[in-house]
Amino acid sequence: MATKPKPLFGFCSSVNHDTWRNIKQNREFVVNMVGENFGPLMEIMETDFPYEVSEIEKCGLTEVKSRHIKPPRIQEAYGWLECKMAKYIAISERNVWIIGEVLDVEVKDEALDDVVDVATAKPLNHIWGEAFVTDMKITRFKRA
Ligand SMILES: Cc1cc2nc3c(=O)[nH]c(=O)nc-3n(C[C@H](O)[C@H](O)[C@H](O)COP(=O)(O)O)c2cc1C
Repeated sequence: MATKPKPLFGFCSSVNHDTWRNIKQNREFVVNMVGENFGPLMEIMETDFPYEVSEIEKCGLTEVKSRHIKPPRIQEAYGWLECKMAKYIAISERNVWIIGEVLDVEVKDEALDDVVDVATAKPLNHIWGEAFVTDMKITRFKRA
């Protein structure tokens, strides 16, 4: 959402999701930047398991310690943002907009050029429903 004076990341969550329950409790969260390898896992990730059940475990993914915060990273992602909740805004009865101050950004060496090396990271981008964009390419345009 912003880079200066502080880097900020924002996203919307349903108030009924465990994601919001966890962030409200811990005031910290990790944004895992994921590639195509996560595509086939969306179905399991989205299953409404009881709160105590870990979708990370169900997917056979690996938790690793974060550098600055308690919630873990997912090893199989290509990069991570470690965030501390700065603010949240109830934008409807059902949805909350969460703003995190980004305390740490890391991208795996092999997935980093001067920006994310999309040919290696193969970012997975959601459009709508079951439609995702893959096979990205970086194009540069001059800016003022
Ligand atoms: C690609 C993708 C994007 C999604 N984006 C959001 C989102 O921005 N906000 C949201 O509340 N749910 C979103 N969902 C749905 C949640 O991921 C899903 O309901 C999940 O089960 C919630 O898990 P939780 O209850 O463990 O937090 C998305 C799902 C997919 C597959």
